[in-house]
Amino acid sequence: GTKTLTMIKPGAVKHRHIGAIIDMIEKAGFRIAAIKSVKLTAEDAMEFYAEHKERPFFGELVDFMSSGPIIAAILLKENAVADFRKIIGSTDPSEAADGTIRKMFAISKSMNAIHGSDSDESAERESTFFFSKKEMLEKYL
Ligand code: GTP
Ligand code: MG
Repeated sequence: GTKTLTMIKPGAVKHRHIGAIIDMIEKAGFRIAAIKSVKLTAEDAMEFYAEHKERPFFGELVDFMSSGPIIAAILLKENAVADFRKIIGSTDPSEAADGTIRKMFAISKSMNAIHGSDSDESAERESTFFFSKKEMLEKYL
């Protein structure tokens, strides 16, 4: 697929890393097809991460993701999902490769700076979660 959905998470927004992270994303060859600042409610975060609702960290994840504003964006590139997960790095920043966004900006496994969709199906669902069809550019002409 050519699309992925990202969120710059509350910690990275609070610590004023939005610009640096977007710069890394653009330099890696992604185009921003839609972008907005939003503050999720706990209910929004529970819906977004519903697949994790039985996991022990779910409460912590929901609290963190609803603790402050985030930046949500749709990113376009060939092989977007896999290529983006490569530049963000492992979920746990202590395992993330040098030069990855999480290595540079994550504080912990919960406060790990950024989200990237895990499949084309997730990218589609997550894009619709944040953006109306009118807000999404499918391609650059
Ligand atoms: P996302 O891009 O945010 O979906 O991260 P991911 O795909 O690398 O990880 P996953 O979908 O498995 O988990 C979703 C989020 O839950 C992660 O980004 C972490 O913030 C959090 N998380 C996952 N595993 C753990 C864990 O073992 N402990 C804690 N505290 N948080 C976790
Ligand atoms: Mg995930």
